[in-house]
Amino acid sequence: MTAPLDWAGLRAAAEAVARHAHAPYSGLRVGAAGLTDDGRVVAGCNVENASYGLGLCAECGLVSALRAAGAERLVAVAVCAGDGRPLAPCGRCRQLLWEHGGPTLLLDAGPGQDPVTLAALLPGAFDADELATRRES
Ligand code: THU
Repeated sequence: MTAPLDWAGLRAAAEAVARHAHAPYSGLRVGAAGLTDDGRVVAGCNVENASYGLGLCAECGLVSALRAAGAERLVAVAVCAGDGRPLAPCGRCRQLLWEHGGPTLLLDAGPGQDPVTLAALLPGAFDADELATRRES
């Protein structure tokens, strides 16, 4: 039997990393924490820029931390704002998470709520299979 996922721990890690966010322009601090398939927790926060369009979402930091740790896959992710409540990943970050967790990746929906799969948040996703089967050269 596999151990139940420690959502409270993942949420706490997301809330903790949100404190390190650099969000002077939007005022919305965001933290994202993920459990890897080899049992590690990686995390990232949003980092904004005076050139607004260059800002990095928390999930970008999370995915960088995943790769920097030498880990491969995310199995569960919690994203929250500075207030500690869950935050819906933006569309771009759903695609980003898809690459590193796939359709079965679980996203936190908050205490007492069932987590949701990434497939539910990003139906009909474009992915590497599409590239492999549809490219012309
Ligand atoms: N943000 C994230 O970090 N992740 C999301 O999935 C949604 C939005 C950040 C980007 C920006 O720094 C701030 O929230 C306001 O959009």
